Amino acid sequence: MEVKLESKSCMEKDEGLGWGKSLPVPRVQEMVKIDPHTVPHRYIRDHADRPVFDQRPISSEVPVIDFSLLAKRDQYEQKKLDSACKEWGFFQIINHGVGEELLQKMKGAGTGFFDLEMEDKQKYSMAENDLQGYGHAFVFSEDQKLDWADLMFLMTYPPQYRNLKYWPLAVPGFKETVEEYTKEICRVSEEILGNLSLLMGMEEEGLKELHQVVKLGMRMNYYPPCPKPDLVLGVSPHSDSGTITMLLQDDHITALQIHHQGHWLPVKPLPCALVVNVGDTLEVWSNGRYKSVQHRAVTNESRARISIATFVIPHDEAEIGPVEPILRDAPATYRTIKCVDYLRHFLGRKLDGKALDFLKLQAD
Ligand code: OGA
Ligand code: NI
Repeated sequence: MEVKLESKSCMEKDEGLGWGKSLPVPRVQEMVKIDPHTVPHRYIRDHADRPVFDQRPISSEVPVIDFSLLAKRDQYEQKKLDSACKEWGFFQIINHGVGEELLQKMKGAGTGFFDLEMEDKQKYSMAENDLQGYGHAFVFSEDQKLDWADLMFLMTYPPQYRNLKYWPLAVPGFKETVEEYTKEICRVSEEILGNLSLLMGMEEEGLKELHQVVKLGMRMNYYPPCPKPDLVLGVSPHSDSGTITMLLQDDHITALQIHHQGHWLPVKPLPCALVVNVGDTLEVWSNGRYKSVQHRAVTNESRARISIATFVIPHDEAEIGPVEPILRDAPATYRTIKCVDYLRHFLGRKLDGKALDFLKLQAD
């Protein structure tokens, strides 16, 4: 008997616990191609959830951090990182050393995929119960409002977690570019985690060790133009489940909004910067010192937008719960569970704000 040794990711195996079971919904890109003027009712948000444009001037207020200084353990920059993670949950990094050409190539790889003919894209469609591949996530009911976007999710690191059947090798250079970009993102994320570990009172390797294995998952989002951007959302409000997320986005379209001080604040892209945000796992490890902040994306009438989010994810068996040095100053406000159990919870619900209440301990 032939034994097949496939490199299956553990994200791929459904244990019958209800994750990765998104209902099939139309490809928005295709829908817009067929009828560019109509917004079907499933995409039209309730009034309170609709984006309000020009509510505040577009600002670049989100902190900007010089990565090259973090790499030198510059204390002033570390302080900025600390307060950005506490007060914003978001920041942009510049001087990260990922070449401009590679950033463009990476966005080109994403465009190359979404520009394929539909029948070619479908070859990479998510299988039932799988999170990797082309499609949609977090759709659980017929009356749930849908995001004006399509996505492609791939595990990119470590290499044994890759499932190449979902990689669009038909796009010239796709694999090489994703590999090259992933290598760089690994370097950048390790440096950020090293600095955060020190700020949290651990050794530099502290957060890395807590991950057991630092995994990277990449979500390429494709937001087609929308005839009524004021009625829809590109991606529903959510926080990310992992440790940190690094987002590569179009330099010319402002679409990402973060929930800050009660308002939805647009994040104006800084050319060649990466947007970094705190995910739920880091919020828990830091016992709430760092905040995983809700964010969403809006659409526009004239141009499609691509964004590429890389999520840093611990090993399934890693424990997420407040770390010891932080507990010297304050009691735990979250309970400790295995990463896989949090993911199951996170992936088993529609994207709708933060999922972290699940881990919050009641204050006595
Ligand atoms: C995400 C995300 C925002 C954007 O993929 O988790 O928040 O601007 N994307 O595309
Ligand atoms: Ni996100």
